[in-house]
Amino acid sequence: MERRSTSVVVFDSGIGGLNLLCACAARVPDAHYYYIADTENVPYGNRPHEEIMRLTLSALDGIEELEPAALVVACNTVTANCIDELRHMYSFPVVGIQPAVKQAARCGGRCLVLATKSTIASPSFINLVNRFAPADTTAVGCEQLAAYVEQNVLSLPEELPDGLLPDVRADSVVLGCTHYAFVKRQIESKYNCPVFDGTEGTAAHFLEIMGIADHSYAKNGDFRPPTEKELKITYKCQNSVKYAQIVKYLFSIHGRGS
Ligand code: DGL
Repeated sequence: MERRSTSVVVFDSGIGGLNLLCACAARVPDAHYYYIADTENVPYGNRPHEEIMRLTLSALDGIEELEPAALVVACNTVTANCIDELRHMYSFPVVGIQPAVKQAARCGGRCLVLATKSTIASPSFINLVNRFAPADTTAVGCEQLAAYVEQNVLSLPEELPDGLLPDVRADSVVLGCTHYAFVKRQIESKYNCPVFDGTEGTAAHFLEIMGIADHSYAKNGDFRPPTEKELKITYKCQNSVKYAQIVKYLFSIHGRGS
């Protein structure tokens, strides 16, 4: 049966959400994705709650007109600060991303959560850690890392400059900011332990949400990258050429961008 093209809005302060965008597009390849990034104000992570709320509402202004089937908040900082308000505001489902502390709990030992300052200070993060994180968990706000990744994504070194990551020992690391997925390899080699991020879990949740409205989406497993003809992404940000280039690269290395 012919399906009307569904629109989906994916939002992050910058490039961080592109991994999740690809993971969503691999699961629901025939949707029209609108990727919104607040390229003028990225990074959000060192800002106070009220400012993050104001910037988010301004970046998302007018999305109702796109009649999205869902809004995917591909930003831990915005999820931590704004998800309840966004869910109240919109009649469509709002999917958020949170640090994957539950997955790290399986490793035992010392868990290190890397996230933005604002995420770590938020009540929702504190609640998440209290409920699901291993007993020995340390959360560190990496104040410079998201900006560094945003600026250097096309030429990232094998080893990150000193001072971006804390010098501590860890048995598992959780990436609590979507920007950090771009330096997952560097983080793995620094801490030499399993590194978790919430991309796959959030994309699985997105598929579930889409499946509720349209059962033809509700099949798990069997993902493939969308064909070039199928893939429809409108970038609402500056630097859209760079963003499109990153998405192409993510599909080329992982097949499904995560
Ligand atoms: N990518 C975002 C996150 O997941 C925020 C990075 C920033 O703007 O500071 O937290």
